[in-house]
Amino acid sequence: MGASLLRLHFHDCFVNGCDGSILLDPSSTIDSEKNAFANVQSARGFEVVDEIKQAVDQACGKPVVSCADILAVAARDSVVALGGPTWKVKLGRRDSTTASREAANANIPAPFFSLSELITNFKNHGLDEKDLVVLSGGHTIGFARCATFRDHIYNDSNINHRFAQELKYICPRKGGDLNLAPLDDTAAQFDSAYFSDLVHRKGVLHSDQEMFNGGSTDALVKRYSYNSKAFHQDFAKSMIKMGNIKPLTGSKGQIRFNCRIVN
Ligand code: HEM
Repeated sequence: MGASLLRLHFHDCFVNGCDGSILLDPSSTIDSEKNAFANVQSARGFEVVDEIKQAVDQACGKPVVSCADILAVAARDSVVALGGPTWKVKLGRRDSTTASREAANANIPAPFFSLSELITNFKNHGLDEKDLVVLSGGHTIGFARCATFRDHIYNDSNINHRFAQELKYICPRKGGDLNLAPLDDTAAQFDSAYFSDLVHRKGVLHSDQEMFNGGSTDALVKRYSYNSKAFHQDFAKSMIKMGNIKPLTGSKGQIRFNCRIVN
C-alpha cells in the first residue's frame, strides 16, 4: 500500500503541481485524472487517503489539513515504514478545484520513454537529471502490470536474458495484462536493489533500464547501486523538491472536506 501512496504523490505533483488533483473522482465537472493512461486500472490507495483525512479532520475538529498535504506526508511515511529515509515535509499546500485528464496524459512520464524524453519531462517540472535518477529509485518498492513492461521483455535488447525469460512467465505475449511483477528484487524494502538490478540489466520497465544504457546517467546509477546511504540522502532531497512543485497557497484553491469531491 505504501508504494501506491508514493506513486500518487508523484502523479499529483507532476500535474499542475502538488494540489490533490489526482484524488478527485469523475463528475459532471471533473475530468478525473484517475482515468489518465498512467492511472487507469493502476492507481491505488485512495481509500487509505480517505481514512487518513477523516482521522486528521476529526482530530482537528474541522478540515484544516489539505488532501495535497496528506498525500505528501503519507508518501514520506510510507518510505520510512519500508526502511527508507525521512525528510521534513513543508505543509500548507491547498487543494485544487479542478482536475485535468489531458494534463495528466501530457505530464506523467510513460514507461516507453527514452532517456532524453525522461530528462526533458523532469526538466519541465523543474527537476534535473540527478532528480530523475534518484526519484526513479522510487521503483525500489512496488509492482508493475504486465502491459507496462511487455514490449521491454519481448523487444528490447538491453535486458538480461534469463531475467527476461522469468518475466515472460508472468507476462505472456498475449493476455495477462494485469499480472504483476515486482519492480525490483526486494519490492517491500526501500533499499538500493533497484539500482544494482539496473546495473545487471534487470530493469522491469524500459524507462528504468534507459537510466543505465550507456548514457549520461550510468555513473549515478552505479554509485547508488553500492551506496545506499547516498541514495537515501539524495532521495530525501529530491522528494522535498518534487513536493514543492507549484503548490496552491494563500487564498488559492481550498481545503477539501472530502478528497474525492470539490467543496
Ligand atoms: C521516471 C519516470 C517514471 C515512469 C515512466 C514510471 C512508470 C511507472 C509504471 C509504468 C509503473 C507501474 C504501474 C502499473 O503497472 O500499475 C510504476 C509504478 C510505480 N512508480 Fe513509477 N514511474 C516513474 C517515476 C516514478 C517516481 C518519480 C516515483 C516516486 C518517487 C515512482 C513511484 C512508483 C511506485 C512506488 C510504483 C509502484 C506502485 C504500486 O506498487 O502500487 N515512479 N511507475
